[in-house]
Amino acid sequence: MAGIIAVGDVAFDRHTALVPPGQSPFQDALELFSTADILFGNMESIMLPSDFPKEFIAKNALCSEDHVANFIADAGFDIMNMASNHVLDCGRAGMEHTRKRLESLGVRVTGVSKRNFSPHVPVFCDLNGLRFAFLGFLEENNCTHAAEGDRISYLSGEKSVELARELSKQCDCLVMSIHADMEFQPAPSLPKVELCRKLADAGARIVLCHHPHCPQGVELHNGSLIAYSLGNFHFRIDSYLKTGLPYTSYAQALSIEIGEKGNILSWKRNHFMIRNLELGRPERTSPEESAQIEGYCRGLDAILADPQELRKHWHSSSLEYFKQYWDIFRKKEADEFLQNDLWRIWNQENFNWLAGIRDWTERKQSEKFRNKPAEEHHRP
Ligand SMILES: [Fe+2]
Repeated sequence: MAGIIAVGDVAFDRHTALVPPGQSPFQDALELFSTADILFGNMESIMLPSDFPKEFIAKNALCSEDHVANFIADAGFDIMNMASNHVLDCGRAGMEHTRKRLESLGVRVTGVSKRNFSPHVPVFCDLNGLRFAFLGFLEENNCTHAAEGDRISYLSGEKSVELARELSKQCDCLVMSIHADMEFQPAPSLPKVELCRKLADAGARIVLCHHPHCPQGVELHNGSLIAYSLGNFHFRIDSYLKTGLPYTSYAQALSIEIGEKGNILSWKRNHFMIRNLELGRPERTSPEESAQIEGYCRGLDAILADPQELRKHWHSSSLEYFKQYWDIFRKKEADEFLQNDLWRIWNQENFNWLAGIRDWTERKQSEKFRNKPAEEHHRP
């Protein structure tokens, strides 16, 4: 038997990296973390040495100085996924420095590789007679370019499913970490759900997802556990909350008990709250708060069990995304839109929302057709 604890996005910037000596930004979670055999998280930001030239830092880069690696190692993190959309915010140099800093402190890294190594080689760890394999993936078209990222583990549909099939034969419990999908939505897109279920069917015993910045539901699919979004865990969220997204402050640590054959025995959400929006730290919740958040999360689980509800959410998320871009388009000159925003759509966003719009339109058309009187269908 073994226990895994997994959290979502862990990110530091210059502000959140300022922690008084002797304190941990994960203070309120340390007691829980100490109960984990394996502690896993998603590394959403980049670490740079203090002499890194400022001119090479991208305008919206999510990065901090590299002492934050000590906070992560001291909190007991064993494995961090680095395949996130911010991995190239400070170029390859930033990616490489972050990986090296974490590994130098004993934190193992998945999702990116050393030069001349495949990023699809998982982190193996043997524990209590069980062999675990952890492999992180990043959805393409999400800030990064595949052409520049041969050392980043990109998610690629059937190829990733095939990889799950192969790797599951090499371990007792395959854990896949997926950084993907539309942000700030309470439910995953249908293509994401289909892919995660395929990965599970192919042998992934646990699928841990992140990137939406808010929690989404958890389901057991043919004995495998899929957590569609673990949300933020350590993340400065002041700008997100200003845009009316309260669920970005729900931080959770998912405890999973693994049985003798690598099977899922049980799972549980442990709730925290990011109360200080600028500091972004996970803080304890009262029993009442925990019960209220758990109730909300169970509602999210229920969406996953209802195919119609899931499709409805995907369509409304897609329309929301479409409206956002439509508004940008309307307010700008075509030239400016083509130069600044079309690039963003093309390079930063996954296309699940576009597929959602297409699916929604097709359904509307077929409904219209079905609802017409029969003679109208055959009118010459
Ligand atoms: Fe992300």
